Amino acid sequence: MEIFKTKKEISKKIESLKSERNSIGFVPTMGTLHKGHLSLIECSANKNDKTVVSIFINPAQFNDKKDLENYPRSLDSDLRLLRESKCDIIFTPSVNEMYPEPDNRKFNFGNLDKIMEGKYRPGHFDGVAKIIVRLFEVISPHKAYFGLKDFQQLAIIKKLTKDLKFAIQIISCPTVRESDGLAMSSRNSLLSPEQRKHAAQIYHTLCQANINAAENDIDNIKEQVITTLNKIPFTEVEYFEIVDEIDLHPAENWDNKSGKIGCIAVRIGKVRLIDNIHFNL
Ligand code: PAJ
Repeated sequence: MEIFKTKKEISKKIESLKSERNSIGFVPTMGTLHKGHLSLIECSANKNDKTVVSIFINPAQFNDKKDLENYPRSLDSDLRLLRESKCDIIFTPSVNEMYPEPDNRKFNFGNLDKIMEGKYRPGHFDGVAKIIVRLFEVISPHKAYFGLKDFQQLAIIKKLTKDLKFAIQIISCPTVRESDGLAMSSRNSLLSPEQRKHAAQIYHTLCQANINAAENDIDNIKEQVITTLNKIPFTEVEYFEIVDEIDLHPAENWDNKSGKIGCIAVRIGKVRLIDNIHFNL
């Protein structure tokens, strides 16, 4: 496993791998790796000759300075996990390396960033887009792997890739969960033991909503989820939206034109967690 810190060095390495006809899979991350990240690496390694993983806590996507300061960091244990995984190449650039000059670029995602994460974290998706464009330019993989846990991010990255005509296939991978259902997240490590116990209710409540969906309209389901979770100690729902899985437009009814996804953001104490569920109607 090789580690690169500069764009120049990693680009050279990728060029040489490509000249030997290797296919390149890419998994971008912000570190504090868990089984969710490792599942993306596994998917990539199954379909590509070489897998590249980036670890970069991207300041541009944190709309809240405190959130950036508190974001967990664990490079040594990340490198240990990566050595045991099928990752071939690691890219760990510095902030200066990725942003040698200020980047005030704004992107147009149409409706996709006007709701949910885009609404509650202004500028977040411009920040995600800035780093993904730079990483795609440097690594230029054949395929890039993203988790369905960040459903809106995935939709935005698909649009970005298409709009900017990157010849990169975007592959989505299922959400990996703890045994009690909590979606794995680097932020889970910031929960106290008691908060961690309560956090399992997020997915339980989404599953219950899926069961109740057949007999309730969308507004009822939304109210049930929000009321149930807001009763749990330390817990406050920031939003719960049920949206069309393709264009992310808020759904008004359970028509069967396309799938519906329930997307949620919850604050447990100071920790903000997101999750989603695909409704099976
Ligand atoms: P990060 O939160 O580290 O996540 C990196 C990738 O892992 C994302 O594609 C995310 O959707 C996926 N992932 C996270 N938790 C998962 C889980 N429980 N199951 C499956 N996949 C999971 O998302 C980011 O970083 C950043 O925004 C990034 C794309 C790297 C840009 O900075």
